[in-house]
Amino acid sequence: MNRNDLCWCGSGKKYKHCHLAMDERIKEMKFDFFKGQVRPPRKIIDNEQDIAGIKASAVINDGALDLMAEMIREGIDTLTLDDAAGDYITSHGGVSACLNYEGYPRNVCISINDVVCHGIPSRDTILKSGDIVNIDITTIYNGYFADASRMFMIGDVAPNARRLVEVTRECMELGIKAAQAWHFLGDIGAACAAHAHKNGYSVVTDLGGHGVGKQFHMEPFVPHNAKAGTGMLMVPGMVLTVEPMINEGTYKVTTDEEDGWTVRTKDHKLSAQWESTILITENGPEVLSH
Ligand code: MF3
Ligand code: CO
Ligand code: CO
Repeated sequence: MNRNDLCWCGSGKKYKHCHLAMDERIKEMKFDFFKGQVRPPRKIIDNEQDIAGIKASAVINDGALDLMAEMIREGIDTLTLDDAAGDYITSHGGVSACLNYEGYPRNVCISINDVVCHGIPSRDTILKSGDIVNIDITTIYNGYFADASRMFMIGDVAPNARRLVEVTRECMELGIKAAQAWHFLGDIGAACAAHAHKNGYSVVTDLGGHGVGKQFHMEPFVPHNAKAGTGMLMVPGMVLTVEPMINEGTYKVTTDEEDGWTVRTKDHKLSAQWESTILITENGPEVLSH
C-alpha cells in the first residue's frame, strides 16, 4: 500500500494520514513466538465510522441494562425481564444478538447463583431474596454489536455472595485498566486473575471475552486467566469485551445437557460475572457499553 492510497481500514482517508504510522510501529516490533505474541489482523481494527456505529449500539444496550436495573426485584420471573429487554431493544431500532444465535431461544441471558453464564430466562424462574443475578445483553444496531452484563443482588444477600459480586466487578475494572495499546492481550487476564486469586476465588477458563463490533464473537479470544505479555498485541481501534467469570469454588464448569446452554459451576458454588465492551485507544481503554 502506497502512502497516497486510500487506507485499508475503509476510512476514506489517505494511508499516510490514517494507519501508516501504526503499521510502521507494528513492523518495528519484535514478536516473541514463545509468548504467543502475534500481530492483530487488519479485519479486527475498526475505523471511526465503525466505532461510531458500535457506540450507537452501546447506547441502546446500556439503556436495556438500565431498564433491567429498574425492573429487577424479588418475585419477578426472568421471562418478564427478557420480554422487556427485547421490547426495549426493538423499540429503539435494534435487534437482540442473542435471540436465535446458534439456536439460543431468548433475548438475553439471566444467570443466577451457581449459573456461570447463558442462563435461559423462563416464566418458572422466580427471583428470590439472596440471589445474585447476572443479566447479559447484546444489541445489534445498524449492523454493529455491543455486549455488556451487570450483576444484581436481590433482597438480603449473604456477605460471601456480596463480596464475590464486588470482587468480580473489581476484576473487570482491573482487566479494563490493563487493556493498553501496545501491550499484549494477556495483560488483561493477568490483572483479572491476580485479583481473583488474591481474594481466594477461581477464574473460569472455558469461556472468555472476545473481539466484538462488526460481529458478535470475533478474534481475539480474551482469556481472564493469562500471563502478562502474552497473546495478541493490542492496538488502537480494537474493540473487545472484558467479562470475567469468577467462582467461589472450582473454576470447572458444566453445560446443561437438557437445554444445551446453561453453564453451571461443577461444585454448584456461586459464580459472578461483569462485562463491558471496550475500545483500545492511544490514551487507554474507553468503555463503550457497560
Ligand atoms: N453475551 C454473551 C457473551 O458475552 C454471549 C451469549 S450467547 C447466547 O459473549 F446465545 F447465549 F446468548
Ligand atoms: Co455478553
Ligand atoms: Co461477550
